[in-house]
Amino acid sequence: MDRIRIRGGAPLNGLIPISGAKNAALPLMIASLLTEETLELGNVPRLADISSLLRIMSNFGVDHSIAGRRPGQTTETGQTIRLTAKNVIDTTAPYELVSTMRASFWVIAPLVARFGHARVSMPGGCAIGTRPVDLLIMALAKLGAAIEIEAGYVVATAPKGLRGAEIDFPKVTVGGTHVALMAATLAEGTTVIRNAAREPEVVDLAQCLVKMGARIQGAGTSEIVVEGVSRLHGTSHDVMPDRIETGTYAMAVAMTGGDLVLDNTKPEYLQAALDVLGQAGAEVTSTIGGIRIRRNGNGIQPVDITTDPFPGFPTDLQAQFMALMTRASGTSRIRETIFENRFMHVQELARLGARIRLDGDSAYVEGVPTLKGAPVMATDLRASVSLVIAGLVAEGETTINRVYHLDRGFEALEAKLARCGAQIERVRG
Ligand code: UD1
Repeated sequence: MDRIRIRGGAPLNGLIPISGAKNAALPLMIASLLTEETLELGNVPRLADISSLLRIMSNFGVDHSIAGRRPGQTTETGQTIRLTAKNVIDTTAPYELVSTMRASFWVIAPLVARFGHARVSMPGGCAIGTRPVDLLIMALAKLGAAIEIEAGYVVATAPKGLRGAEIDFPKVTVGGTHVALMAATLAEGTTVIRNAAREPEVVDLAQCLVKMGARIQGAGTSEIVVEGVSRLHGTSHDVMPDRIETGTYAMAVAMTGGDLVLDNTKPEYLQAALDVLGQAGAEVTSTIGGIRIRRNGNGIQPVDITTDPFPGFPTDLQAQFMALMTRASGTSRIRETIFENRFMHVQELARLGARIRLDGDSAYVEGVPTLKGAPVMATDLRASVSLVIAGLVAEGETTINRVYHLDRGFEALEAKLARCGAQIERVRG
């Protein structure tokens, strides 16, 4: 298994191009199941999760092609993928494929909406909390699908098609909103989704669906209204920038000091996190194509945060922010309200010398003047990148094992950081 080796102490200076968002690319790829015509997606990141989903889609009989490299493109320029779900021969998503990635469960929505049948294994994915799918199932049931659970599979049927309905989510769920939105586009009549997730990835999906002929209003607010149509058609769409990757590199330079431009991204996708970085002592400004983050001279101030659905502070940046706070000049409180058990990085950060006390949904991080390099283990996608951030300032050498977690979500991480001065390399194992 590959490892990442880091020698801490170097500041980050330069420019990092931000990739397309994994969390937008996945539902967009899944949306191709809603039409027999071709959906062309640009700016798709090269990530293990994208390949896993392509395997699942191929299993249904979806044809795909990946456009060849063009002059001037590097491995970090996103790829263009064309997906055509014309000859779907199977509407089952088996355990071996779905268990590696939770979002693949979302295929259930377009399959039942277009074909009247779907059989999808209960999901796996990151081991953070229980992460049930009850609300996704509730949404499909409201739209008229009959649901049965059989031997670890959710079987959804709607032989006469789905019907528009009122869906009130008792808590904000990104996956639930994606599922309800996709299914409602082909349901007969009007669907109202209340307490919908307002995440930019929901807006990106809705914009693509509208280009495919869907009638959607209110995406990006907590009430989305969908008028069902009888069929959707193909289109071209570029995946939005990855706000979590953006925030991760922003935290990294706040940690190491230096001056980074994050290119091809937008501050409004992560304003809450940028505001917090400003309070912590980084200087954040907008550039024409992105964001510039600097920290020179001044130390890191402690800041308390609470994770929340968008536009709040994202849970997917919680671990990275905790890494930053390990070096603050004082104690900060980090409260996690979205996922239980999302503190697995704490014990690994402690191996580097961090002082963190857990109490229920909160972590109290007492800043220390130095971290010391050590071997550590990646436990999930976001936790593993928090160890990279800590390793970038730890004295001596930090080795991160199990980096397949990183490869699920961060495109060319070590190349992007190394070009900006970090001493980081992948050790093939
Ligand atoms: C998505 C993101 C993930 C991010 C999360 C929250 C993708 C591929 N993943 O995950 O990176 O951390 O949003 O921003 O986009 N819940 C239920 N029942 C359900 C569904 C969810 O109780 O049926 C709960 C979850 O356990 C969690 C909360 O709702 O406590 C939010 O989860 P949700 O927004 O659905 O997360 P995902 O869509 O899985």
